[in-house]
Amino acid sequence: MNVRKRMNLFLGVLVLAGSLCAQTVLVSTPKTSLVLSAPQGGKLKYMYYGSKLTEADLRNFDVVNGQTRALGTIDVAYPEYGLSCPTETALAVKHADGNMTLQLEVIKSFTQKEGNATLTVIELKDKVYPFFVNVCYKAYQDADVIESWTEISHQEKKPVMLNQFASAYLPIRRGDVWLSHLYGSWANEGQLSQEPLTPGMKVIKNKDGVRNSHTSHAEVMFSLDGKPQENTGNVIGAALCYSGNYKLRIDTHDDEYHHFFAGINEENSSYSLKKDELFSTPALALTYSNEGLSGSSRNFHRWARLHKLAHGTTPRKILLNSWEGVYFDINQKGMDQMMADIASMGGELFVMDDGWFGDKYPRKNDSSSLGDWVVDKNKLPDGIEGLLRDAKKHNIKFGIWIEPEMANTVSELYEKHPDWVIKAPEREPVLGRGGTQVVLDLANPAVQDFIFGVVDNLMTSYPEIDYIKWDANMSIVNHGSNYLTKDNQSHMYIEFHRGFEKVCQRIRAKYPDLTIQACASGGGRANYGVLPYFDEFWVSDNTDALQRVYMQWGTSYFFPAIAMASHISAAPNHQTFRTIPLKYRIDVAMSGRLGMEIQPQNMTDEEKALCKTAISEYKTIRPIVQLGDIYRLKSPYDKQGVASLMYVTPEKDKAVFYWWKMEHFVNQHLPVVKMSGLCPDKLYKVHELNRIDNVPLSFEGKVFSGSYLMANGLEIPYNHRVDYHKQNDYSSRVLYLEEVNRKE
Ligand code: GLA
Repeated sequence: MNVRKRMNLFLGVLVLAGSLCAQTVLVSTPKTSLVLSAPQGGKLKYMYYGSKLTEADLRNFDVVNGQTRALGTIDVAYPEYGLSCPTETALAVKHADGNMTLQLEVIKSFTQKEGNATLTVIELKDKVYPFFVNVCYKAYQDADVIESWTEISHQEKKPVMLNQFASAYLPIRRGDVWLSHLYGSWANEGQLSQEPLTPGMKVIKNKDGVRNSHTSHAEVMFSLDGKPQENTGNVIGAALCYSGNYKLRIDTHDDEYHHFFAGINEENSSYSLKKDELFSTPALALTYSNEGLSGSSRNFHRWARLHKLAHGTTPRKILLNSWEGVYFDINQKGMDQMMADIASMGGELFVMDDGWFGDKYPRKNDSSSLGDWVVDKNKLPDGIEGLLRDAKKHNIKFGIWIEPEMANTVSELYEKHPDWVIKAPEREPVLGRGGTQVVLDLANPAVQDFIFGVVDNLMTSYPEIDYIKWDANMSIVNHGSNYLTKDNQSHMYIEFHRGFEKVCQRIRAKYPDLTIQACASGGGRANYGVLPYFDEFWVSDNTDALQRVYMQWGTSYFFPAIAMASHISAAPNHQTFRTIPLKYRIDVAMSGRLGMEIQPQNMTDEEKALCKTAISEYKTIRPIVQLGDIYRLKSPYDKQGVASLMYVTPEKDKAVFYWWKMEHFVNQHLPVVKMSGLCPDKLYKVHELNRIDNVPLSFEGKVFSGSYLMANGLEIPYNHRVDYHKQNDYSSRVLYLEEVNRKE
């Protein structure tokens, strides 16, 4: 029996032992292990989370960890409030009789196969009360990710109030632990922040109500051995799979651990749980890598593509979106012209954005019509039929923008259903975008039907629609549901997202092949709560290529390039007013899911030709970018004048290397970027894509070993060698690496 087989058998026995003897429970993925102690009638405790344990390590595991963990009570796997009040907790309730305490004990545990994953459930019960918690772990066998969540229920006579209900808790051994997380704002999403964990509590939270990733994100990484490194070091990654308000807490006080909690934000959301009702918390996805931050990203990306993202393994179409090209100025001829242009450049899809709808109140700007999803016949006399006809003529697909969770007070929908909007009784609604926008109350099943109907009506009338851009441009700003009872007003945020998910599930059940983009004033919906139903998200309303390098860098920590919509737009840029040459705009957009967001009519023939070449070259590298492994090489946040990353196929036979100059000073000394992720023994031929230089790079067509490229990198010229009048301060390169056999 080989070592691997013996190990698997041993691990199997351990799990079995965990379920039968209620002792040790092992949860494992190909390269990671999570170990729990689950003695029947005792406490469920965390023992270990990290790289895969060997048989020898596991045998002596109790001894080693018994000593370290004896230092405190931190090792309870799902800490409850009541009998250890001074510590932070995951779960806090008020029983029907007013008792504020919990004392959870292990009843039993079991494992079962679920597709390509193993589900482990540890059942806990309060020592006295009929109050139950299932702590669940879903370990993927084809991706190094373990999802962890809880299921809470009770059989007390009256409702139990849940005041705190985290999805999961993880103790992280203190040392020089650094946190990497994302923050930002509209048009500046996905900004990376890295900081050492220090005593006190770090809270990362969201209270938007509708969207949750404009500002902070619900995903973090912990670098366990000092300042974060991209390609070395041990890293734990955590991503909360939730679309609504969340709270992540990292508490560091007087013991040996950082205490990490993640879950729904319970503020103004206490939940009255009825007898026998099941409250499931959203999953916290955990990953561990000893290949640095990029290693953790690769784990998340693989898991996302295989399990979390709609159509995660199908390469995306190259599209033109109408927004920055014409804004609300939609008309039949204009759409036809844009379709003709994108088709002529090799694009595959045209998406008509905002401005196409409204009958009584035509959508001329953002102050009316949301909710009235009928074609504005003045703008589009031939209707959607006409647009589909034109798309067919140009041999491309057609997509359309909607914002179905919203209304304007100036709309027929609001006139008919003023009670469908979120607002407090006795109060005027607080209005959003355009001075008239309101959020629909997704707790209400009638509203859910309406929203499902928006998509369903479009798709049944026009089944050729290939793509929907689903927007959400407002937060919940006033608290109040007309549908929920007076006693359950604090359920509003949770019920909104339950309603949203129900609608998404219905849409996906009926339209499994439709491509849907999650947009929310830009990057407000980059989260693993929505991605099972969406193919991609709009990274930001800011399309400025230089700022996008920072935003896309941060976003790539948790989300794969296939999900990151990245468009070539006009210069000067409409958000930053910066003028960036087209070559650089292309080279940045090509590192994500490539698209265009521009009026092609305003482009010169030379610019169109450059885009045409780029689109054709992108088609060659699309599988590498969208399905390959990311290696981030030089961070823009390190301010060394250059940013660089690459994607490599799993077989390591092809790679794409991106290099962007981030600032410009004469005779500035830029570092040479060493590559990563290649096979040291393989030989790679280098070919520059999107070349604008009059002369090829000195290494064009030359062959180098993976080991050379990873030890030394290639010396990239500081400027482009172009005619004098074409010179500017920007410079960028995209290199395609392809394995060649030794004789070539
Ligand atoms: C939001 C989106 C944009 C665009 C507009 C349309 O701001 O993020 O991409 O669709 O709405 O109103």
